[in-house]
Amino acid sequence: MADQVKTSALISTARALVAGDKGLLAMDESTSTCNQRFAELGIPQTVEARRSYRELLVTTPRLGECISGAILYDETIRQRTREGTSLVEVLLRAGIIPGIKVDLGAKELAGFPGEKVTEGLDGLRERLTEYLQLGARFAKWRAVIATGEGLPTQACMEANVHALARYAALCQEAGLVPIVEPEVLMDGSHTLERCFGVTEEVLGMLFAQLYTQGVALEGMLLKPSMVLAGKDCPQPSSVDQVADATVTCLLRTVPAAVPGIAFLSGGQSPEQASRHLNAMHIRFERKMPWALTFSFARAIQQPALEIWKGQDANVAAAQGALYHWASCNSAARRRQYGTGV
Ligand code: 13P
Repeated sequence: MADQVKTSALISTARALVAGDKGLLAMDESTSTCNQRFAELGIPQTVEARRSYRELLVTTPRLGECISGAILYDETIRQRTREGTSLVEVLLRAGIIPGIKVDLGAKELAGFPGEKVTEGLDGLRERLTEYLQLGARFAKWRAVIATGEGLPTQACMEANVHALARYAALCQEAGLVPIVEPEVLMDGSHTLERCFGVTEEVLGMLFAQLYTQGVALEGMLLKPSMVLAGKDCPQPSSVDQVADATVTCLLRTVPAAVPGIAFLSGGQSPEQASRHLNAMHIRFERKMPWALTFSFARAIQQPALEIWKGQDANVAAAQGALYHWASCNSAARRRQYGTGV
């Protein structure tokens, strides 16, 4: 009985995260990733600068109109605004569900140069309990898969999908919706067809592992990469090719029981990411069994960060840019990105 109640809470949170035309804001950069992005723009790499930036993001006016959930990082879920309100509280007041990144990063996979495996399973049960108490209702774990000559290896794919499935099972046990993120990286010169093959194989293996580990598909979300040619591929793909390849691949591999799929942006520009999402909705309207939405970090945040530059005077303009890109992706879900509607 208690398990049934827990499962129905997971299902309703998962559905709420992908409802309507909303999507997620990933703002879960680790301290080192956040510092790296600050360094590129000459922003001081301090706890206070990171806190101010996260405050800017969560206090963006009307953000809740297009954002259903925000993924936080361990440092951020404990932080407060200058006035002393916890960032979690600010999100809840805006109608945004707080979530938390729980993996401890991708580390070199022993014996397989150029490949990584995501760590963080040890002690995860206890960390999840704490995050639930801090207000998180969902979690995220990212695995990275590199494509290249002889890559990815079976060893890399197996290690990563196994970890993702064990993470997902632990989340559901704790009462948190797992967002399962297998990212096929855009780095390299591989073709769109090669990306399709790798993504199809990884997702096939992933859902087999989720089944083996007893994960309830109705109470999870998938966060995949789009199917794209590598950054250095000489043959660029058209928007429609990306939309067709991505949704075809997902239709083949993602069971209809999964309530939603929320893409990462993976280094695409904000315009590209929104155009691709829009085209998927235009070309596959009513042909998809799951909700299809966004869970972007860079494709929503980067323009805002470049405007902010660490200066208080730029906060309102940066928030305007954040709202703009969040609402563009909401428009893409309605097939209205770029139509001026
Ligand atoms: P990007 O949208 O910048 O790829 O980030 C999404 C994310 O959550 C990475 O884990």
